[in-house]
Amino acid sequence: MNKSRSEPTVAVNTSLPADVSAELMIVPVFEDDPLSDAALLELDAASDGEVGRAIEQQEFRPKPNELFLTPLRGGWQADRVALVGVGRRDDESADRCRSSLAAVAIEARRRRITRVACVVRGDVPAAAMAQAVAEGLLLGGFEDHRYRTGDRAELSAPLLETCDLLTGSENLADVERAVHRGVVVATSTNLARELSNEPANVLTPATFAERALAMVSEQGVDVEVLEDEAMRGLGMGMLLGVAQGAVEPPRMIVMRHTPATAPAAPVLGLVGKGVTFDSGGISIKPAAGMDQMKQDMAGGAAVVGAMRAIGALQLPVRVIGVVPMTENMPGGRATKPGDILTSASGKTVEVLNTDAEGRLILGDALWYIRELGATHLVDVATLTGACVVALGTAASGLFGRPSAWSTAVQQAAARSGERVWPLPLYEDYADQIRSEMADLVNAGGRAAGACTAAAFLQAFTGDLPWAHIDIAGTAWSDDARPDLAKGSTGVMVRTLTELAVMSESWASDTPDSGQP
Ligand code: BES
Ligand code: MN
Ligand code: ZN
Repeated sequence: MNKSRSEPTVAVNTSLPADVSAELMIVPVFEDDPLSDAALLELDAASDGEVGRAIEQQEFRPKPNELFLTPLRGGWQADRVALVGVGRRDDESADRCRSSLAAVAIEARRRRITRVACVVRGDVPAAAMAQAVAEGLLLGGFEDHRYRTGDRAELSAPLLETCDLLTGSENLADVERAVHRGVVVATSTNLARELSNEPANVLTPATFAERALAMVSEQGVDVEVLEDEAMRGLGMGMLLGVAQGAVEPPRMIVMRHTPATAPAAPVLGLVGKGVTFDSGGISIKPAAGMDQMKQDMAGGAAVVGAMRAIGALQLPVRVIGVVPMTENMPGGRATKPGDILTSASGKTVEVLNTDAEGRLILGDALWYIRELGATHLVDVATLTGACVVALGTAASGLFGRPSAWSTAVQQAAARSGERVWPLPLYEDYADQIRSEMADLVNAGGRAAGACTAAAFLQAFTGDLPWAHIDIAGTAWSDDARPDLAKGSTGVMVRTLTELAVMSESWASDTPDSGQP
């Protein structure tokens, strides 16, 4: 379904809170920085004593995501105030602010409030805080009810229309730039969430490619879509081997952001797994939970979302995004366990388990993005159940080398408030995926399943700096959380975009960059 999403207008405003008209005035409160006496007195008076009473009686405590709403009269233009807790002031203040503001956005939506304003405070630089606030409001305001009809559709229409961010900061231009970045990144994340929520009967590889093309070309990114003919020409036997069991034909989208002013190197190469439905193929998955495998293209959606954001922000660095798109289905023509496929790189692979399909399509895509001239690689994939066993839904798994490069990716994640946790790439794992019959097997047994999958991908990365992010546990939220709707999370759009923002810090820092 392709209803266009209307995003709220987020504006920076230097007026005093009392003078701003809004249905809801949001005031973040830190545990170790209670509201100043003057502000408290003002709010207390405007709320007929309700704000002071709630704090006094601890009906409101400044814990993360805690909320207190009350009407305002006397002197303030806003109809109501929401105190929202953000915990203690420390390195994670901006993250908690993002999450708390998302919780407020969910509450505002429930109350059908359309015009909000938020006081940006705290001693994190105002720009970082304002970006986090903008992201929180937009990410929290997202709810995906495109397929509901009747009353339930009406109730869930997107509601937030305007957000005024109030700041006394002197670096207004910085704050405005940061807010713009926040809006672009959050909007791109929400678009990625819509793509991943889409059911597999709608989002076939061909539709995925069309939708992605529309999303990024709107922002000036060049797009090319390869069909099976072209893949055959390039010798992509692994991608075609996965696709051959499906009736829906595969696609591979190639997105290029090439700003005229950017230096020739580095070229950031982003690869995302785009399996629009993973039934397991002949090694078919059990029925329970198989519906969730419509989101096995979340890594691809993250790369598309990041390319959109990078294009919209006109970041001065070259970036290529490649997403191999296919279904993984059983059928008379499907790849069978024991089959041997020849990859585009020339390496041969014995398929022991057709459900280990992600690494097959990514191997060909990683090879291809190197051919296209990428100097620094990152792939994002819902790759292994083993990664979910290792880290749960709390963090994505991060693999990579050299360490300067995986550290850069880790920093980008930290600055975006997305969690990644390092996992190892020991030689032992490469031993586990050696084949008797061919060069590699595609499944390395039960032990260290996330690591052997990463070792498989590594075989297709040449000598380039490369990082692999396994988002099998983080791409989807089974339950609604206080700050996040149920369903796709859009994870890694923010990190990948931030990595492009930070390009100057890693371009010279990692060996091999710019080398042939
Ligand atoms: N798409 C799955 C991994 C997955 C599992 C993603 C749970 C999200 C939630 C992947 O293609 C897969 O099936 N992996 C297998 C590999 C195994 C056969 C070596 C797995 O993890 O079981
Ligand atoms: Mn699979
Ligand atoms: Zn899969």
